Amino acid sequence: MQSHYRITVTSGKDNSDIIWDSGKVESGLSVHIPYDGPQLQPFTRYHWKVAVWDNHGNQITTASRTGSYFETGLLNTGWSGAQWIKPAGNKLRKDAVLLFRSEFNIKKEIESARIYSTALGIYDVFINSKRVGNISDNGKTTYDELKPGWTNYSKTLFYNTYDITPFLNKGGNAIGAVVSSGWWAGDIAHGEYGNPDLGFLALLRIKYTDGTIECITTHPDTWKSNDNGAITSADIYAGECYDARLESGWNSFGYDDTNWKRTEINHGFHGKITSFIGPRVQVRPELERFPVSCIKYNGSTPDAYGFGTIDTVEIYDAKKTVNLTKGDTAVYDMGQNMVGWIKFKVKGKRGTRVTFRFSEMLNDNGSISRGNDGPGGSLYRTILRTAKATLQYTLKGTPEGEIFRPSMTFFGFRYCDVSVTDDLSIESLKGEVVGTVNEEGSHFITNNDAVNKLYRNILWGQRGNFLSVPTDCPQRDERLGWTGDILAFCRAATYNADVNGFFCKWLGDVRDGQREDGAFYDLAPRVWGNEVGNAAWAEAALVVTWNTYLMYGDLRIIEENYDAMERFMQQRATQVFDGYKYNGGGITHGDWLAPEGNEPGKKRCIAVCFYAYSARLMQKISEVMAKYHGKKYEQKALEYKTLYTNIKKEFQTRYINSDGTLAQDGQTTYLLALKLDLFPDTQSANKAIVHLDSLIKSNDNRLGTGFVGTAIINQTLSECGLSETAYNLLLQRKNPSWLYSVDQGATTIWERWNGYTYESGFHPQISMNSFNHYAYGAVLEWMFRYMAGINPDIDNPGFKHITLSPHIDSRNAIPTGQERITYVDASYESHYGKISSSWKINKKNGNIKYDFTIPTNTTATVILHLQDKCNKIKCNQRSLDKVAGIVSHKTDNTKSIINLLPGKYSFTVSK
Ligand code: BGC
Repeated sequence: MQSHYRITVTSGKDNSDIIWDSGKVESGLSVHIPYDGPQLQPFTRYHWKVAVWDNHGNQITTASRTGSYFETGLLNTGWSGAQWIKPAGNKLRKDAVLLFRSEFNIKKEIESARIYSTALGIYDVFINSKRVGNISDNGKTTYDELKPGWTNYSKTLFYNTYDITPFLNKGGNAIGAVVSSGWWAGDIAHGEYGNPDLGFLALLRIKYTDGTIECITTHPDTWKSNDNGAITSADIYAGECYDARLESGWNSFGYDDTNWKRTEINHGFHGKITSFIGPRVQVRPELERFPVSCIKYNGSTPDAYGFGTIDTVEIYDAKKTVNLTKGDTAVYDMGQNMVGWIKFKVKGKRGTRVTFRFSEMLNDNGSISRGNDGPGGSLYRTILRTAKATLQYTLKGTPEGEIFRPSMTFFGFRYCDVSVTDDLSIESLKGEVVGTVNEEGSHFITNNDAVNKLYRNILWGQRGNFLSVPTDCPQRDERLGWTGDILAFCRAATYNADVNGFFCKWLGDVRDGQREDGAFYDLAPRVWGNEVGNAAWAEAALVVTWNTYLMYGDLRIIEENYDAMERFMQQRATQVFDGYKYNGGGITHGDWLAPEGNEPGKKRCIAVCFYAYSARLMQKISEVMAKYHGKKYEQKALEYKTLYTNIKKEFQTRYINSDGTLAQDGQTTYLLALKLDLFPDTQSANKAIVHLDSLIKSNDNRLGTGFVGTAIINQTLSECGLSETAYNLLLQRKNPSWLYSVDQGATTIWERWNGYTYESGFHPQISMNSFNHYAYGAVLEWMFRYMAGINPDIDNPGFKHITLSPHIDSRNAIPTGQERITYVDASYESHYGKISSSWKINKKNGNIKYDFTIPTNTTATVILHLQDKCNKIKCNQRSLDKVAGIVSHKTDNTKSIINLLPGKYSFTVSK
């Protein structure tokens, strides 16, 4: 175990200047120790070293890797005269794509050079016609997509920093940028920022070997612009049009730009420009997809039921060249609902236009009564609403073929179809997954294929919807940061990947959108200004902050958000009406899309519960603050505790009948009241547990819950001792249930359990039927926390101490059509290292084998739930007393509690 650490930060020639030396600090912490030295200088590279001592006094690690460095950006130096530029003259088409260019001369030897750049819109930057990206130490370049990402542009815009030393030449150089509307001015902005012009801002800072510095900046005197580039139009919802005939070498030195427009200053941005925060949006090569099939058809034959079916011409092995002629359509199936774009190679005559359209589903048999919007086998696109999701490419006619992928849009799709204006062959086509790169280090496998598929579907839902911001869906004309969706899913997300940076960044968007009176918007970044302060949406700020702290242990997320959360609580306190003091937030959404109904009375009850939830979270959050920042927060914690007690009292007067039942009957209201401990005493809570169980059983073990209830149902059932019911729900195959959509062919999580069914076709509510909506994937939280039992410890967050408490499938009776989970194997990549937990029930004798891995410098408490009081427990085939690493253990009739040091342990519980 670690006993001490020491961090040093150095800079200067040979790293000889010590900037910060933490000294030898007595602490077991090995993550999230903030820099605590003097103010850092801008434009400076700092190296860092860590030394660690173990509890025997050995210095066991001294990191002195040359690669351990960080570099500061502009800090408060300003932009050295760089101006926001836009083309001079009339306003351009909304989907126009702008080019900006400038040239400059370098006369001296370069030591290093950086570009700091951003755009009003999304952009790419090129130097001497090479796309600028991140050059890694091994010389490989990775590219950031859809820069600078989405923030609340009224307040905040990020800039990117790139090392461009190898891009520059002594002599003449050219710099170019391409900018499209993106989240700033495209349809997705929903007019939030006015109808603003696109703009570009850059500072190139060149350091010469003689020690001098030169800055090249965007400025109307030296930059020109044009909207006649090869990307002829782009919009996130609509897609992209590219005419390869217009490629011109515009971003190389010596290009003749005499006919280009002048630029002028763009005064459209009034917020703060800050360095990029959080993980980047990139293409993820490890997730690349190749089509599983391709069908060529030409027209369709209608039938008596509607559109009929497509007239298939040929079915291809999708990796083969597909030849198309005018009138043909080819439909590619990527085999997985994914988010990103396609990259393809085509051969054809100059001027031939090829059009790709994207969708998540295909029409099945074309019948109107099944909700089809076209012939069976063609793309089902109605649910995209106004999003055109189309990609058009016009060939320049290169004999060897032309390779293309878009860069100013993204699509949520499993299928794409393609049509042409003239003969053309598609030599290759693949899907590139694009999203915020959150490292995925977990796995989860059971003996049940459908559950395993559900796990993968949840993961794909996260991959697709974590793109700069956490979105509701990636395909239709929304793709917005709806807060209720991430409130439901955030804890699950933390188990799938390292989303610490992603949530830190997004909470900035939430704070930026906070209204004067403290209310949080239901969307972050804020768009659609009227959706504000609604219960189970606006509380996301608190729930995400808390869960992120718990899972990663970085206090700064609490410190950064504390004041904003307090202001939110002050706004909630003003909601006094209808004779009640504690009403909570607005009730626009309630238990969104709940099969058991979502009446206004139920919605208000949910709002009151969420007020209690907030008060309880704020108490815990204040207690954490009190540990580090003293008395003031102890007082706050007490105040929130009192607030919680008062809300609870009023909840009881308002919602608990004299016989102890809830005035608002239903799965979700009982779940909330139990989760938040709103019943007056244990006896009444126990009665409520029995009632909740019977509600679920009388519903044939099916979910009645919407976004709010589904997010907590299995976790709450397990906390109430009803893990068996939770297993019944998980393994349910009838509608509504998680596996129902799996059985209907889902490869992601759907907005509706029955968005599509083999029995009846598409759900009739076409305006709200996304096939990639992660909210219901919240059950993954239960899978990790209860099935695998991997939990952080509130007092030692970030898995410094781990609780491992698997709830095995010990159902006495398995409902018809279900099977027992006999095996779970899961691991989670914590900031302290990989934690693993697996268990297996021996089918012959019922013995259970548990395997755990506890990473270095952590401790763990294993809780084994015993089915039988005469269970015998062994570890590594020995009695517990004989195992090095077992610090203590205690067993009663129901469980065994074992405290462990790092290592691998194998327990058997036998009859
Ligand atoms: C979104 C949801 C969102 C909801 C708010 C929908 O259009 O897709 O996921 O939370 O609106 O009610």
